[in-house]
Amino acid sequence: MKRIVILSGAGMSAESGISTFRDSNGLWKNHRIEEVASPEAWERNPEMVLEFYNQRRKQLCEVKPNAGHFALARLEEKFDVQIVTQNVDDLHERAGSSKVLHLHGELKKARSTVDPNLIYELEHWELKLGDTCKKGAQLRPHIVWFGEAVPMIDKAVALVKTADIFMVIGTSMVVYPAAGLIHYVTREIPKFYIDPKAFAVHGVENMEVIRKKAGEALPGLVERLLKEVL
Ligand code: APR
Repeated sequence: MKRIVILSGAGMSAESGISTFRDSNGLWKNHRIEEVASPEAWERNPEMVLEFYNQRRKQLCEVKPNAGHFALARLEEKFDVQIVTQNVDDLHERAGSSKVLHLHGELKKARSTVDPNLIYELEHWELKLGDTCKKGAQLRPHIVWFGEAVPMIDKAVALVKTADIFMVIGTSMVVYPAAGLIHYVTREIPKFYIDPKAFAVHGVENMEVIRKKAGEALPGLVERLLKEVL
């Protein structure tokens, strides 16, 4: 079975109603996103940080996967599909994709502030000051914040290197190390880049650029991949 590795970003979930980072004004209640999603913000004002993620978690309960997510799930009929997402939502999983690696964490999880291995699935949208891990320490959102290491990147690099087909969907490719993953892809394999604002990626061969929304482009592309022998 051929392996398709997919790198998705905020644009993947845009048609579900979740705003992207850099298309919107990048502000939340007049705070720059970097001022909310950072270890410094957590130090300074944990309540505000918790509220920011609580609102996003609450919104996640109200949105649904879009046609793009569902199309990608269908690829599993014929391919070994591995999604590497920068998104913290669970829309790929809810659409039926079975292998999803979250590079930047997961909104529906919390983790201990003293032991990063203590990760909890949240049953409710709200995480509060005073919610603690089994060691008695405050829980924080299970999110990779600006300036923090990306623990899953080695696993993602290893996956990307084994791709027979590679897709990039809905990401501005400005946030590293995720944006660097494209350079680990085998040179000659077919690649697709789906993003209305996709730019020419230099030094990458055999890349078909589709400047459309994910929900518009993916059903057709997936249909094609399920039929064609690439
Ligand atoms: N379909 C496909 N792409 C879309 C759509 C859509 N319907 N709508 C917008 N886009 C594209 C935009 O053109 C843009 O290139 O999605 C991209 C979104 O870019 P960003 O907002 O920068 O999101 P992303 O690349 O995922 O950001 C990376 O930055 O702040 C961090 O951790 C956060 O994971 C995030 C990371």
